[in-house]
Amino acid sequence: MDVKNVAVLGAGTMGNGIAQVFSQSGFGVTMIDIDERYLERGMKAIETSLGRLLKKEKITAEAKEQAIGRIKTSIKLEDIAGSQLVVEAVFEDLAVKEELWKRIDGIVDENEILASNTSSISITKLASFVKRPERFIGMHFMNPVPMMKLVEVIRGLETSDAITAATTEICKSLGKVPVEVNDYPGFVSNRILMPMINEAVYCLMEGVATREAIDEVMKLGMAHPMGPLALADLIGLDVCLDIMKVLHEDLGDSKYRPCPLLRNMVASGRLGRKAGRGFYDYTS
Ligand code: CAA
Repeated sequence: MDVKNVAVLGAGTMGNGIAQVFSQSGFGVTMIDIDERYLERGMKAIETSLGRLLKKEKITAEAKEQAIGRIKTSIKLEDIAGSQLVVEAVFEDLAVKEELWKRIDGIVDENEILASNTSSISITKLASFVKRPERFIGMHFMNPVPMMKLVEVIRGLETSDAITAATTEICKSLGKVPVEVNDYPGFVSNRILMPMINEAVYCLMEGVATREAIDEVMKLGMAHPMGPLALADLIGLDVCLDIMKVLHEDLGDSKYRPCPLLRNMVASGRLGRKAGRGFYDYTS
Protein backbone atom coordinates (compact mmCIF):
# COMPACT_ATOMS: atom_id res chain seq x y z
CA MET A 1 0.00 0.00 0.00
CA ASP A 2 1.74 3.12 -1.23
CA VAL A 3 0.91 6.08 1.00
CA LYS A 4 2.38 9.42 -0.13
CA ASN A 5 -0.28 11.92 0.83
CA VAL A 6 -2.14 12.09 4.10
CA ALA A 7 -5.22 14.10 5.05
CA VAL A 8 -5.41 15.12 8.70
CA LEU A 9 -8.81 16.26 9.90
CA GLY A 10 -8.66 18.68 12.79
CA ALA A 11 -5.94 21.28 13.43
CA GLY A 12 -6.12 21.15 17.23
CA THR A 13 -3.39 19.88 19.56
CA MET A 14 -3.46 16.31 18.28
CA GLY A 15 -4.26 17.15 14.65
CA ASN A 16 -1.44 19.65 14.22
CA GLY A 17 0.99 17.32 15.99
CA ILE A 18 0.01 14.46 13.66
CA ALA A 19 0.29 16.71 10.58
CA GLN A 20 3.76 17.73 11.78
CA VAL A 21 5.14 14.22 12.23
CA PHE A 22 3.86 13.11 8.82
CA SER A 23 5.36 16.13 7.06
CA GLN A 24 8.67 15.71 8.93
CA SER A 25 8.81 12.18 7.52
CA GLY A 26 8.32 13.34 3.92
CA PHE A 27 4.58 12.75 3.45
CA GLY A 28 2.48 15.38 1.70
CA VAL A 29 -0.09 16.58 4.25
CA THR A 30 -3.43 18.32 3.87
CA MET A 31 -4.62 19.59 7.23
CA ILE A 32 -8.33 20.35 7.26
CA ASP A 33 -10.52 22.18 9.74
CA ILE A 34 -13.80 24.06 9.61
CA ASP A 35 -12.38 27.56 10.14
CA GLU A 36 -9.28 29.36 8.80
CA ARG A 37 -8.55 30.60 12.32
CA TYR A 38 -8.11 27.04 13.61
CA LEU A 39 -5.81 26.26 10.68
CA GLU A 40 -3.70 29.35 11.37
CA ARG A 41 -3.45 28.41 15.03
CA GLY A 42 -2.50 24.85 14.06
CA MET A 43 0.23 26.02 11.68
CA LYS A 44 1.57 28.36 14.35
CA ALA A 45 1.77 25.46 16.82
CA ILE A 46 3.67 23.41 14.22
CA GLU A 47 6.16 26.27 13.67
CA THR A 48 6.69 26.58 17.42
CA SER A 49 7.15 22.84 17.85
CA LEU A 50 9.61 22.61 14.93
CA GLY A 51 11.38 25.67 16.37
CA ARG A 52 11.88 23.80 19.66
CA LEU A 53 13.31 20.80 17.81
CA LEU A 54 15.65 23.12 15.88
CA LYS A 55 16.81 24.76 19.09
CA LYS A 56 17.48 21.34 20.60
CA GLU A 57 19.44 20.56 17.38
CA LYS A 58 17.17 17.59 16.62
CA ILE A 59 16.40 18.97 13.14
CA THR A 60 18.09 21.43 10.75
CA ALA A 61 16.66 24.80 9.65
CA GLU A 62 16.24 23.32 6.17
CA ALA A 63 14.29 20.32 7.51
CA LYS A 64 12.05 22.73 9.41
CA GLU A 65 11.25 24.74 6.28
CA GLN A 66 10.70 21.61 4.21
CA ALA A 67 8.32 20.18 6.81
CA ILE A 68 6.28 23.38 6.82
CA GLY A 69 6.31 23.46 3.01
CA ARG A 70 4.81 19.98 2.77
CA ILE A 71 1.66 20.97 4.69
CA LYS A 72 -1.32 22.41 2.83
CA THR A 73 -4.35 23.66 4.74
CA SER A 74 -7.97 23.72 3.70
CA ILE A 75 -11.46 24.29 5.05
CA LYS A 76 -12.97 22.02 2.37
CA LEU A 77 -13.47 18.37 3.26
CA GLU A 78 -13.40 17.52 -0.46
CA ASP A 79 -9.65 18.25 -0.36
CA ILE A 80 -9.05 14.85 1.27
CA ALA A 81 -9.31 13.49 -2.30
CA GLY A 82 -5.84 12.44 -3.48
CA SER A 83 -4.75 11.22 -0.03
CA GLN A 84 -4.15 7.53 0.53
CA LEU A 85 -4.60 7.82 4.28
CA VAL A 86 -7.15 9.87 6.23
CA VAL A 87 -6.43 10.50 9.92
CA GLU A 88 -9.33 12.01 11.81
CA ALA A 89 -8.46 13.97 14.95
CA VAL A 90 -11.54 16.07 15.59
CA PHE A 91 -13.42 16.81 18.80
CA GLU A 92 -14.25 13.66 20.83
CA ASP A 93 -17.97 13.62 20.18
CA LEU A 94 -19.65 10.57 18.68
CA ALA A 95 -22.31 12.57 16.80
CA VAL A 96 -19.68 14.89 15.29
CA LYS A 97 -17.54 11.94 14.24
CA GLU A 98 -20.52 10.05 12.84
CA GLU A 99 -21.51 12.95 10.60
CA LEU A 100 -17.93 13.52 9.50
CA TRP A 101 -17.15 9.89 8.70
CA LYS A 102 -20.34 9.54 6.66
CA ARG A 103 -19.29 12.58 4.62
CA ILE A 104 -15.72 11.29 4.26
CA ASP A 105 -17.12 7.96 3.05
CA GLY A 106 -18.81 9.75 0.17
CA ILE A 107 -15.53 11.34 -0.96
CA VAL A 108 -12.77 8.75 -0.56
CA ASP A 109 -12.18 5.95 -3.01
CA GLU A 110 -12.11 2.39 -1.81
CA ASN A 111 -8.34 2.03 -1.46
CA GLU A 112 -7.71 4.51 1.28
CA ILE A 113 -6.83 3.71 4.87
CA LEU A 114 -9.32 5.33 7.22
CA ALA A 115 -7.93 6.05 10.67
CA SER A 116 -9.20 7.77 13.78
CA ASN A 117 -7.04 9.21 16.54
CA THR A 118 -9.89 8.83 19.03
CA SER A 119 -8.74 8.35 22.61
CA SER A 120 -11.89 6.64 23.84
CA ILE A 121 -14.60 6.10 21.23
CA SER A 122 -14.97 2.55 19.93
CA ILE A 123 -13.15 1.95 16.63
CA THR A 124 -15.72 -0.73 15.75
CA LYS A 125 -18.50 1.83 16.24
CA LEU A 126 -16.74 4.47 14.10
CA ALA A 127 -16.05 1.84 11.42
CA SER A 128 -19.79 1.15 11.20
CA PHE A 129 -20.24 4.65 9.69
CA VAL A 130 -18.28 3.75 6.53
CA LYS A 131 -19.10 1.28 3.76
CA ARG A 132 -15.87 -0.71 4.14
CA PRO A 133 -15.18 -1.14 7.88
CA GLU A 134 -12.29 -3.49 7.12
CA ARG A 135 -10.31 -0.40 6.00
CA PHE A 136 -10.93 1.39 9.30
CA ILE A 137 -8.35 1.43 12.11
CA GLY A 138 -7.37 3.37 15.24
CA MET A 139 -4.11 5.34 15.14
CA HIS A 140 -3.86 6.69 18.66
CA PHE A 141 -0.98 9.16 18.96
CA MET A 142 0.16 10.43 22.36
CA ASN A 143 0.40 14.06 23.40
CA PRO A 144 2.73 15.87 22.63
CA VAL A 145 2.75 13.98 19.33
CA PRO A 146 6.20 15.10 18.10
CA MET A 147 7.81 13.94 21.36
CA MET A 148 6.10 10.65 22.14
CA LYS A 149 7.24 7.41 20.52
CA LEU A 150 4.07 5.37 20.89
CA VAL A 151 1.21 4.93 18.47
CA GLU A 152 -1.49 2.58 19.72
CA VAL A 153 -2.76 0.77 16.63
CA ILE A 154 -6.30 -0.31 17.40
CA ARG A 155 -8.02 -3.04 15.46
CA GLY A 156 -11.79 -2.82 15.28
CA LEU A 157 -13.75 -6.03 15.02
CA GLU A 158 -13.74 -5.78 11.20
CA THR A 159 -10.25 -4.30 10.60
CA SER A 160 -8.34 -6.42 8.07
CA ASP A 161 -4.88 -7.88 8.57
CA ALA A 162 -3.64 -5.99 5.49
CA ILE A 163 -4.75 -2.61 6.84
CA THR A 164 -3.24 -3.39 10.25
CA ALA A 165 0.08 -4.35 8.64
CA ALA A 166 0.10 -1.24 6.42
CA THR A 167 -0.70 1.05 9.35
CA THR A 168 2.06 -0.53 11.42
CA GLU A 169 4.57 0.15 8.63
CA ILE A 170 3.39 3.76 8.29
CA CYS A 171 3.92 4.31 12.03
CA LYS A 172 7.44 2.93 11.73
CA SER A 173 8.17 5.25 8.82
CA LEU A 174 7.28 8.15 11.15
CA GLY A 175 9.94 6.94 13.60
CA LYS A 176 7.20 5.85 16.00
CA VAL A 177 6.74 2.54 17.75
CA PRO A 178 3.37 1.00 16.87
CA VAL A 179 1.75 -1.29 19.43
CA GLU A 180 -1.25 -3.34 18.34
CA VAL A 181 -4.21 -3.55 20.69
CA ASN A 182 -7.83 -4.63 20.41
CA ASP A 183 -10.88 -2.43 20.59
CA TYR A 184 -12.03 -2.27 24.21
CA PRO A 185 -12.91 0.85 26.22
CA GLY A 186 -9.87 3.09 26.71
CA PHE A 187 -7.75 0.60 24.72
CA VAL A 188 -4.61 -0.05 26.82
CA SER A 189 -3.18 3.47 27.27
CA ASN A 190 -6.20 5.17 28.75
CA ARG A 191 -7.56 2.07 30.51
CA ILE A 192 -4.47 2.26 32.72
CA LEU A 193 -3.48 5.95 32.64
CA MET A 194 -6.85 7.56 33.36
CA PRO A 195 -7.70 5.62 36.54
CA MET A 196 -4.25 6.64 37.83
CA ILE A 197 -4.94 10.31 37.10
CA ASN A 198 -8.45 10.00 38.56
CA GLU A 199 -6.99 8.48 41.74
CA ALA A 200 -4.51 11.37 41.99
CA VAL A 201 -7.47 13.77 41.86
CA TYR A 202 -9.15 11.78 44.68
CA CYS A 203 -5.93 12.12 46.71
CA LEU A 204 -6.06 15.88 46.20
CA MET A 205 -9.79 16.09 46.99
CA GLU A 206 -9.42 14.05 50.19
CA GLY A 207 -6.42 16.09 51.34
CA VAL A 208 -4.04 13.15 51.26
CA ALA A 209 -1.37 15.59 50.04
CA THR A 210 -0.90 18.85 48.13
CA ARG A 211 -0.88 18.86 44.32
CA GLU A 212 2.89 19.38 44.33
CA ALA A 213 3.44 16.51 46.76
CA ILE A 214 1.24 14.13 44.74
CA ASP A 215 3.14 14.94 41.55
CA GLU A 216 6.52 14.75 43.26
CA VAL A 217 5.78 11.27 44.67
CA MET A 218 4.99 9.92 41.21
CA LYS A 219 7.91 11.74 39.54
CA LEU A 220 10.61 10.80 41.99
CA GLY A 221 9.16 7.55 43.29
CA MET A 222 8.03 6.02 40.01
CA ALA A 223 10.27 7.87 37.55
CA HIS A 224 7.35 9.36 35.64
CA PRO A 225 8.45 12.38 33.55
CA MET A 226 5.50 14.39 34.89
CA GLY A 227 3.25 13.96 37.90
CA PRO A 228 -0.35 12.85 37.21
CA LEU A 229 -1.92 16.25 37.95
CA ALA A 230 0.53 18.10 35.69
CA LEU A 231 -0.08 15.45 33.03
CA ALA A 232 -3.85 15.88 33.37
CA ASP A 233 -3.34 19.61 32.75
CA LEU A 234 -1.33 18.78 29.62
CA ILE A 235 -3.96 16.33 28.29
CA GLY A 236 -6.93 18.54 29.20
CA LEU A 237 -9.22 17.85 32.15
CA ASP A 238 -12.27 17.67 29.88
CA VAL A 239 -10.56 14.94 27.86
CA CYS A 240 -9.68 13.05 31.08
CA LEU A 241 -13.27 13.31 32.32
CA ASP A 242 -14.72 12.15 29.00
CA ILE A 243 -12.46 9.10 29.00
CA MET A 244 -13.36 8.25 32.62
CA LYS A 245 -17.05 8.46 31.68
CA VAL A 246 -16.50 6.03 28.80
CA LEU A 247 -14.65 3.58 31.08
CA HIS A 248 -17.33 3.88 33.77
CA GLU A 249 -20.25 3.47 31.39
CA ASP A 250 -18.85 0.85 29.03
CA LEU A 251 -17.15 -1.36 31.62
CA GLY A 252 -19.89 -0.82 34.21
CA ASP A 253 -17.54 -1.02 37.17
CA SER A 254 -17.70 1.57 39.98
CA LYS A 255 -13.91 1.59 40.23
CA TYR A 256 -13.96 3.87 37.15
CA ARG A 257 -16.27 6.52 38.67
CA PRO A 258 -14.94 9.99 37.79
CA CYS A 259 -13.74 11.94 40.84
CA PRO A 260 -16.22 14.71 41.82
CA LEU A 261 -13.34 17.22 41.96
CA LEU A 262 -12.48 16.38 38.34
CA ARG A 263 -16.12 17.03 37.39
CA ASN A 264 -16.07 20.35 39.27
CA MET A 265 -12.83 21.47 37.65
CA VAL A 266 -14.31 20.83 34.20
CA ALA A 267 -17.60 22.51 35.11
CA SER A 268 -15.71 25.63 36.20
CA GLY A 269 -13.71 25.79 32.98
CA ARG A 270 -10.38 24.91 34.60
CA LEU A 271 -9.43 22.62 31.77
CA GLY A 272 -5.65 22.66 32.16
CA ARG A 273 -2.94 24.29 30.06
CA LYS A 274 -5.21 25.17 27.16
CA ALA A 275 -7.44 27.23 29.48
CA GLY A 276 -4.50 28.80 31.34
CA ARG A 277 -5.62 27.08 34.54
CA GLY A 278 -6.08 23.54 35.72
CA PHE A 279 -4.50 22.00 38.79
CA TYR A 280 -1.72 24.55 38.18
CA ASP A 281 -1.75 28.12 36.88
CA TYR A 282 -0.28 28.78 33.42
CA THR A 283 -1.25 32.40 32.99
CA SER A 284 2.15 33.90 33.75
N1 CAA B 1 6.37 19.87 20.29
C1 CAA B 1 5.30 20.06 21.07
N2 CAA B 1 5.37 20.14 22.42
C2 CAA B 1 6.56 20.00 22.99
C3 CAA B 1 7.72 19.79 22.22
C4 CAA B 1 7.57 19.73 20.82
N3 CAA B 1 8.60 19.57 19.98
N4 CAA B 1 8.77 19.70 23.04
C5 CAA B 1 8.28 19.84 24.29
N5 CAA B 1 6.92 20.00 24.28
C6 CAA B 1 6.08 20.36 25.42
C7 CAA B 1 5.43 20.25 26.70
O1 CAA B 1 4.12 20.26 26.68
C8 CAA B 1 5.93 21.45 27.56
O2 CAA B 1 5.36 22.74 27.25
P1 CAA B 1 5.88 24.21 27.74
O3 CAA B 1 7.36 24.34 27.66
O4 CAA B 1 5.24 25.13 26.76
O5 CAA B 1 5.40 24.43 29.14
C9 CAA B 1 7.24 21.44 27.19
O6 CAA B 1 7.23 20.68 26.07
C10 CAA B 1 8.30 21.01 28.12
O7 CAA B 1 9.38 21.01 27.30
P2 CAA B 1 10.78 20.56 27.79
O8 CAA B 1 11.67 20.68 26.63
O9 CAA B 1 11.12 21.32 29.03
O10 CAA B 1 10.47 19.10 28.27
P3 CAA B 1 11.05 17.73 27.80
O11 CAA B 1 11.45 17.81 26.38
O12 CAA B 1 12.03 17.31 28.78
O13 CAA B 1 9.77 16.75 27.94
C11 CAA B 1 7.63 15.87 27.68
C12 CAA B 1 8.48 17.13 27.73
C13 CAA B 1 8.04 15.02 26.47
C14 CAA B 1 6.18 16.33 27.50
C15 CAA B 1 7.81 14.99 28.98
O14 CAA B 1 7.54 15.76 30.10
C16 CAA B 1 6.91 13.78 29.01
O15 CAA B 1 7.20 12.74 28.44
N6 CAA B 1 5.73 13.88 29.70
C17 CAA B 1 4.72 12.84 29.74
C18 CAA B 1 3.82 12.97 28.54
C19 CAA B 1 2.81 11.87 28.46
O16 CAA B 1 2.64 11.03 29.33
N7 CAA B 1 2.01 11.89 27.37
C20 CAA B 1 0.95 10.95 27.18
C21 CAA B 1 -0.34 11.60 27.55
S1 CAA B 1 -1.69 10.49 27.39
C22 CAA B 1 -2.22 10.66 25.82
O17 CAA B 1 -1.78 11.47 25.06
C23 CAA B 1 -3.31 9.73 25.43
C24 CAA B 1 -4.67 10.26 25.50
O18 CAA B 1 -5.52 9.77 24.76
C25 CAA B 1 -5.09 11.25 26.50
